[in-house]
Amino acid sequence: MGNIDLTGRVAIVTGAGAGLGKNHAVELAKLGAKVVVNDLGGSRDGTGAGQTPADDVVNEIKAAGGEAVANYDNVATVEGGENIVKTAVDTFGKVDILVNNAGILRDKSLAKLDENAWDPVIAVHLKGLYCVTRPAFLNMKANGYGRIISTTSAAGLFGNFGQCNYSAAKLGIVGFNNTMKLEGAKYDIKTNIIAPVAATRLTEDILPPDMLKKMDVKYVTPVVLYLASDQCQDTGMVFNVAAGYLSRSAVMTSPGIVLKDDENTPDKIAEKWNEVTSMDNSVYLKDLNDFLMAMASAQG
Ligand code: NAI
Repeated sequence: MGNIDLTGRVAIVTGAGAGLGKNHAVELAKLGAKVVVNDLGGSRDGTGAGQTPADDVVNEIKAAGGEAVANYDNVATVEGGENIVKTAVDTFGKVDILVNNAGILRDKSLAKLDENAWDPVIAVHLKGLYCVTRPAFLNMKANGYGRIISTTSAAGLFGNFGQCNYSAAKLGIVGFNNTMKLEGAKYDIKTNIIAPVAATRLTEDILPPDMLKKMDVKYVTPVVLYLASDQCQDTGMVFNVAAGYLSRSAVMTSPGIVLKDDENTPDKIAEKWNEVTSMDNSVYLKDLNDFLMAMASAQG
């Protein structure tokens, strides 16, 4: 074993019956964590349910000598989220690590995006984040320790045709995390986000076959394991990860311009538009106060 050792830690992985979540759960267990393998067991669009995916992953972890328990709750309900955390506390005594990973897709262009494609996607990704994270956060707060890793997407960070619902839910996760990082700081709760790209049933008909071949889920999990460990001291960050590529994305703010009262006209703004839109010398602001201070100092 290397330096990252999760012996004695208790981890929850949502949507751990397949794809990325399955690999996270198996590898967390290999590093010594006791794992709650949550999965509703439905189809890619969120319909249906079944216990086999979670059970199979638990059996795989146990066969390799690890400790795991299955949970089949829906992350998108308050009761489901509470049950997932209760499974961890009842079985293993606490929650140290939460990997918010469960996800579905209902892709439609905005023109065709009816409520049936909007509501379930927001429910699983965004309400699901709230439903599971809140009870887990309460346990971590009481213990004075926690590591939370949530899953956003390049579709939310950058945009992707046909995914307004998914993009909104996924960037909502970043907004949630921007505030959670502040509320968790005092309790050593570090909470970060990954934006993965990997070959799973979610991407099998979205990414080109050549690209899929290079995008095994195994390339995504190592950064999750690092973020899940006590060695990780960063919080509130977003990491892009795929096929050995690892980078950070952040909302950056340009120096902007300051308009005197008599300059604050549409014509003057048009004249200075290149200065407004330029991202040269932009900075990362870690919270709302940082932003207010940056604005005040620009105003002089
Ligand atoms: P996947 O479909 O292989 O796995 C998702 C798992 O979540 C499934 O086993 C499913 O049963 C479970 N699940 C769905 N709804 C649930 C619910 N309400 N409650 C509990 N479990 C539920 O998909 P994949 O690709 O492994 O996705 C994992 C996460 O990564 C998702 O959040 C996805 O949006 C995100 N992601 C994946 C990318 C990729 O390239 N595969 C790209 C960007 C983000």
